[in-house]
Amino acid sequence: MTKAALITGITGQDGAYLAKYLLEKGYRVYGLMPRRSSSMLWRLQYLNIENDVEIIEGDITDLASLIRAIKKSNPNEVYNLAAQSFVATSWEQPILTAQVTGLGVVNLLEAIRLTDSSIHFYQASTSEMFGLIQEAKQSEKTPFYPRSPYAAAKLYGHWITVNYRESFKMYTCSGILFNHESPIRGIEFVTRKVTDAVARIKLGLQKELRLGNIDAKRDWGFAGDYVEAMWLMLQQETPDDYVIATGRTTTVRDMCDIAFKHVGLFYEDHVVIDPKFYRPAEVDILLGNPNKAKEKLGWEAKTSLEELICMMVDADMDRVQKEMKVLNLG
Ligand code: NAP
Ligand code: GDD
Repeated sequence: MTKAALITGITGQDGAYLAKYLLEKGYRVYGLMPRRSSSMLWRLQYLNIENDVEIIEGDITDLASLIRAIKKSNPNEVYNLAAQSFVATSWEQPILTAQVTGLGVVNLLEAIRLTDSSIHFYQASTSEMFGLIQEAKQSEKTPFYPRSPYAAAKLYGHWITVNYRESFKMYTCSGILFNHESPIRGIEFVTRKVTDAVARIKLGLQKELRLGNIDAKRDWGFAGDYVEAMWLMLQQETPDDYVIATGRTTTVRDMCDIAFKHVGLFYEDHVVIDPKFYRPAEVDILLGNPNKAKEKLGWEAKTSLEELICMMVDADMDRVQKEMKVLNLG
């Protein structure tokens, strides 16, 4: 029988890649979408799946809408990807972040418990929970130390997911994913901010790129690889939590170097440090240990950082050139 999945956050980066992945596996895919004043379907359009998913109106902060969405989609699997996911914004809107990114998780778990507690549930947890790292390479056993309202909200989401598994024997998994990027990454995140700027500088539309702490280090992978791990977690005999990462960490500075060199430029000629982009508390370094995922799920990152950043620069070059043609600037 055809399986069905409900994805919250389907209009985001991961939601779009996961929807495509599940459609290719033959799933019926439903996506929860909150009301927005303008269309948020551009990522589904980019992946050419806009007409293949069924959108259900609802909001992760509205329990009734979640119950309705589950009744309508009758899913075997629910993937909770909805969040206020930009760390910097979480200091400006900490209460909204707590309500969406934290309490949203228990709303969805309750909706499942009240309708069909046999549904397999995935929670999008994050390496940001490690924050001020307590171990050089972070694994499922590393203690957490959140450094932002976003990370604190995610920590609640993580533990309530574990708690529903232990309290109600529900099949709930928490994927502790390290940073993952793609050509459809939100423009506010540093990789995409850089690759978009590289394209605009190369094409003569911009001269400088203003960044904050370029000494921060992240373990960056490709979103297209990471959604497979989400699916694998829900196919196991018993539910569990997994770190998903590449096992390599790189500074923002070196990531810039890769991006600029790809089009024959030097980041030193264009990057300007602007304290406006510093954060009240920084996560200086993240480096994941994905051994458990490799052993138990057979999952491994396939795309190198160089391949990822070049893929993003190429996509931004292509997009900016098309926009210039439309505006007759080319
Ligand atoms: P994203 O692009 O920011 O997508 C977040 C999604 O959540 C969007 O579709 C957004 O819709 C939706 N959303 C926001 N508020 C909502 C609400 N009140 N009700 C329902 N939906 C709402 O994030 P992403 O990069 O795809 O990440 C997916 C999930 O993984 C997030 O939970 C994120 O925190 C987590 N995560 C991401 C990474 C990463 O590196 N990408 C790493 C670890 C964990 P609108 O755009 O319309 O607001
Ligand atoms: N966004 C941004 N903009 N970040 C900058 C900038 C800038 O101009 N300059 C330096 N950085 C640094 C940030 O201070 C941070 O240390 C690093 O670049 C990465 O920032 P983001 O790309 O915004 O990602 P993040 O690591 O804070 O959070 C992302 O990854 C988490 C997983 O670890 C998000 O996707 C979160 O939702 C996710 O949980």
